[in-house]
Amino acid sequence: MTTSPTSQDDKPVAPLSLGILISGRGSNMKAIYGAIQDGEINAHIAVVVSDNPESEGLAWAAANGLKTASFSRQAFAKKSDFETAILKTLADHGVDWVVLAGYMRLVGKTLLTPYQGRMVNIHPSLLPAFPGLHAQAQALAYGVKVSGCTVHLVDNTMDGGPIIAQEVVPVLPEDTVASLSDRILSVEHVLFSRVLKVISQGF
Ligand code: GAR
Repeated sequence: MTTSPTSQDDKPVAPLSLGILISGRGSNMKAIYGAIQDGEINAHIAVVVSDNPESEGLAWAAANGLKTASFSRQAFAKKSDFETAILKTLADHGVDWVVLAGYMRLVGKTLLTPYQGRMVNIHPSLLPAFPGLHAQAQALAYGVKVSGCTVHLVDNTMDGGPIIAQEVVPVLPEDTVASLSDRILSVEHVLFSRVLKVISQGF
């Protein structure tokens, strides 16, 4: 017998409609897709949007039957126009929650305001340490002995906003940026799905 997900008060919860924003490889998106397929997250991916038409993740999403859209920032005079185009796509697909899965741009108020409190990001450090680009290289350069990843609600600052969950990984003496990034990434894949599972249960 299969059971429908229920909320705290035992009412059935409708599947979340996710809009996933990516810029590159899309391994977090793939992990989320897998967790949905496995019935772990009560959601469907309504659309995958990229700011990079050439991104590997976008091609994978299309090849796997997901709806996709891409918008080059360069094609728009103003950031607000660029974000209005993304917003329209999200609205057209009935997106409830926006998932930033390696979306490497600061979200502006045009996109943030309608989704404030319903937009989550993952970042490969223990925020507030090492926001922005090359978080793993920043961690190595600083000499920290542990790092990790953070899932947080998005505000109008770079990798800022209320923290939902974090996971720690060790930084080993022999680590390179590649080895540390790989160790953090495998933990990201688990943590992001765990957070989305809880959100999708209506908490
Ligand atoms: C991930 O490590 C994610 O945490 C990071 O980009 C990578 C994307 O990988 N995001 C940020 O640094 C956001 N500031 P993926 O495309 O394979 O999911």
